[in-house]
Amino acid sequence: MNEVKILSREQLIQEGLAKLVIPRMDEYRRPDGSIEPAWMPVFYNPQAIVSRDVTVSVLRTLYGSRNIFFVDPLAGTGIRSIRIALEKGGEGIVNDIDPHALYYIRKNLQLNNLHPGKLHVYSQEANILLNNLTFTGISFDYIDLDPYGSPVPFVDSVFKPLGKRALIGVTATDTAPLTCSHYRKTLRRYWFTCVHTDFEKEMGARLLIAYIVKRASALDIAARPLLTFIYKHYYRVFFETLRSTGEAYRLINECLGYIWYCSSTLERGYIKSLDEARDLTCINNEKPVLTGETWICSLGEAEFIDKVFNEADKISWLHKDSKRILGLLRYETRLNNPYVRIDKLCSIIGRNMPKYEILIEALKQHGIIASRTHFDPRGLKIDSDVKALTEVLKSI
Ligand SMILES: C[S@@+](CC[C@H](N)C(=O)[O-])C[C@H]1O[C@@H](n2cnc3c(N)ncnc32)[C@H](O)[C@@H]1O
Repeated sequence: MNEVKILSREQLIQEGLAKLVIPRMDEYRRPDGSIEPAWMPVFYNPQAIVSRDVTVSVLRTLYGSRNIFFVDPLAGTGIRSIRIALEKGGEGIVNDIDPHALYYIRKNLQLNNLHPGKLHVYSQEANILLNNLTFTGISFDYIDLDPYGSPVPFVDSVFKPLGKRALIGVTATDTAPLTCSHYRKTLRRYWFTCVHTDFEKEMGARLLIAYIVKRASALDIAARPLLTFIYKHYYRVFFETLRSTGEAYRLINECLGYIWYCSSTLERGYIKSLDEARDLTCINNEKPVLTGETWICSLGEAEFIDKVFNEADKISWLHKDSKRILGLLRYETRLNNPYVRIDKLCSIIGRNMPKYEILIEALKQHGIIASRTHFDPRGLKIDSDVKALTEVLKSI
C-alpha cells in the first residue's frame, strides 16, 4: 500500500476495490445512531454505495474495455472517480469546490496509486468547470452529477462538454418535493403540478426525468433514460445523450404528457394532451384529476438493464441491495403503467390483502403480466388497467 498517513480523527475503509480515508464516522452520529454525512468535513455517505455500484456496472456494460473520459464535478472524497478508475478504467476529472474535499481527494488518489495522468484534480465551481470544459475539444463520455439535494442548479451545464453520444448519471436527494410533499416547491423547481397518488415514488422519478429531458432538448440534446431507481433517500437516473435536434424533438413529442388519476378507485392512465382528458370518467362516475407535465414513456431500457444485471452478477464486491434492485428493475421496467398500491386498493374494495405470489399467479391466469416494484414493497406493476386488477382481486 502507498505510504499515506491516517490521522487520529480519520479512518480507513474499503468500498468496492477502493481504499478510502475519511473522517471518523462515529463522531457524526445522530441521537438515533445513524451517521449524518452532511456534518462531516467531507461528504461520505455509506448508503450511496448502491449508487456507485450501479454506476460502475452501467459503465462496464455500456463501454466494455473502451477507454473513457469522465467528469466527476461534485466529487466529495473522490470515491466515485476512484471506483470508476479501478473497476471500469478510464481517465477522469475529479473536482470539488470545498478545500476539505480536496484534501481527501488527493489523499485517496495517493492511497489507491492513481497518479495525476489518470485522474486530474480540480477545485472549481462545478458549473464553471463544466462550461469551461466545453472549450477543451475533449468529448466526454460520462459526467456524474451527485449534488446535495436537487440537480437543477447543474443540469444545463452538464450537457455542454458531452460528446455526440454519451452518458450522464444524475442523483437527486430532494425526495420531498419530488414526491409532492411540497406542492409549491415542486411547481417552482420542476414546473410540475402535484396531485397525491398511491405511486408518488414513481411519480418523483417521472417528473425528474421530464425536467432533465426538457432542459437537454432546449440545448439540442436528446436525453433518453436507460435506468432509473430510488434507494433510501435518493433517486438515480442514467441517461444516454445524443446531440440531435430531431431525436430531441421526437422524445419530447412522444414522451411528455399527463397522468389522469381517480383517487377513489385508483384508476390512472397516460394522455399526451389535456384535450384527451375531456371524455375521461372514473368507474364511479367521478372526474379524474390531472397531473403533469411528466415523462410517460419507459423509465429505462429493459434489454440494457438485463445486460447491467448480468454484468453486476459477475462483480463479486457489489452490495446485495445493488443486485436486488437491478434484479427487480429487469422486470418492472418492462411495465410502463405506474405501480398500484395493493394494500390501498384492497382497503377501497373491502378485501383482505392476498399474498403477492397468489395475486401475481391469478393475474397471470387472466392474461395479465405483473411485477413487484423496487419503488414500494406494497406496490405492483401490471400491463393492464386497475379495473381488471380490481376484478381479479375480487375473484381471489
Ligand atoms: C453529495 S456530495 C458528493 C458525494 C460524492 N459524489 C460521492 O459519491 O461520495 C456533493 C459535493 O459537491 C460539492 N459541491 C457543492 N456545490 C458545489 C459547486 N457549486 N461546485 C463544486 N463542488 C460543489 C460539495 O463540497 C460536496 O463535496
